Amino acid sequence: MRAAVLRQVGDAALEVRDDVDLIEPGSGDVVVDITHTGICHSDLSVMNGTIPQQHTPLVLGHEGAGVVAETGDDVTSVSAGDHVIVVWSPPCGGCVYCLAHKRPNLCAALQFGVMLRRQFRCGEQELGSMCGVGTFAERTVVPEQAVVKIDESIRLDVAALVGCGVMTGVGAALNTAKVAPGSSVVVFGAGGVGVSAMQGARVAGAAAIVAVDRNPAKLAVARSFGATDAVLPEDLDAAKAEMNGGEGFDYAFECIGSPATMRAAYDAVRRGGTCCVVGVGRIEEQVSFSAFEIFFNEKNLVGSYYGGADVRVDFHRVLRLAESGQLDLAGMIDRRLPLEDINEGIEALQAGEVVRQIVEL
Ligand code: APR
Ligand code: ZN
Repeated sequence: MRAAVLRQVGDAALEVRDDVDLIEPGSGDVVVDITHTGICHSDLSVMNGTIPQQHTPLVLGHEGAGVVAETGDDVTSVSAGDHVIVVWSPPCGGCVYCLAHKRPNLCAALQFGVMLRRQFRCGEQELGSMCGVGTFAERTVVPEQAVVKIDESIRLDVAALVGCGVMTGVGAALNTAKVAPGSSVVVFGAGGVGVSAMQGARVAGAAAIVAVDRNPAKLAVARSFGATDAVLPEDLDAAKAEMNGGEGFDYAFECIGSPATMRAAYDAVRRGGTCCVVGVGRIEEQVSFSAFEIFFNEKNLVGSYYGGADVRVDFHRVLRLAESGQLDLAGMIDRRLPLEDINEGIEALQAGEVVRQIVEL
């Protein structure tokens, strides 16, 4: 089958091959025919080493949806023909994070195990996969906890986006920060994740939603997804001066993944406000805070992992919001590509030109 393979970290392009095979599924596994996969910035972050993975070469991709082709003997929640969204961080359903803490997004019981797997093969060589899923392939094999069944009436291209960017951004606003009605919000980065955070803030009833992006073309895009204002980074101070008598925003969402914008997001919120870091930076990078300001400002600085979601509940919630017209997910797709052209898509995302591109398999 066809798949897009990252040979090694640092490569600027993927190798699109047509001779990749899948390992035999185990008793708890599900084989999924991937029909659509989005290209997310985290894919680029694996290519450039920001997000470390266990094995290379690997099949990239983690934002996908498709149709179940086959199930192992012990699988009970899905069967062949079911439409599913792939979950890049599957909750095991039985650990202390899933049950006692009620934070299934933080369950690592299965994630690290699946990341160690090499479920693809290319001749004699075994291939790993991004997060143990590898959706830049016509077919993948994952544990049953890594798929969520959806209604067949739902478009699979839209469903793919819910598998990462949409859930991450909408969930950051609704689950992690719990944006309050009437509040003021600033979102750094108008890519797929940032646009989803803006839409989540709108659903939550925010009165002001200001987008910040260094690409002027993205400012109009942000407005079309619910931003009430959109500014270049150099114009942020003027926008901040209008919020809470100049004190700043009630909430900031960093959807870029750089230390400078994480710090800028913290600075953009008022005392007692919430700075929610959604973007993923490099492990060795640091963000600094004065030891005094943490006490004095009493700001909430919180990370958001997979939108704080219980995917088994929240994927459906997001899809209902889309169906009722409160989230525009189809409108986020600005380009469709065959797998052969995936490197063009990667270049466009690198340049900050697109919200979400869909690879059709
Ligand atoms: N200042 C302002 N805007 C910036 C800056 C900056 N320093 N750097 C990048 N941007 C803008 C880009 O112009 C682009 O519009 O941020 C946006 C990022 O969008 P995408 O590349 O589409 O990224 P996305 O897929 O939305 O992911 C954002 O969330 O899940 C994480 O790993 C992901 O860290 C990444 C982040
Ligand atoms: Zn992603």
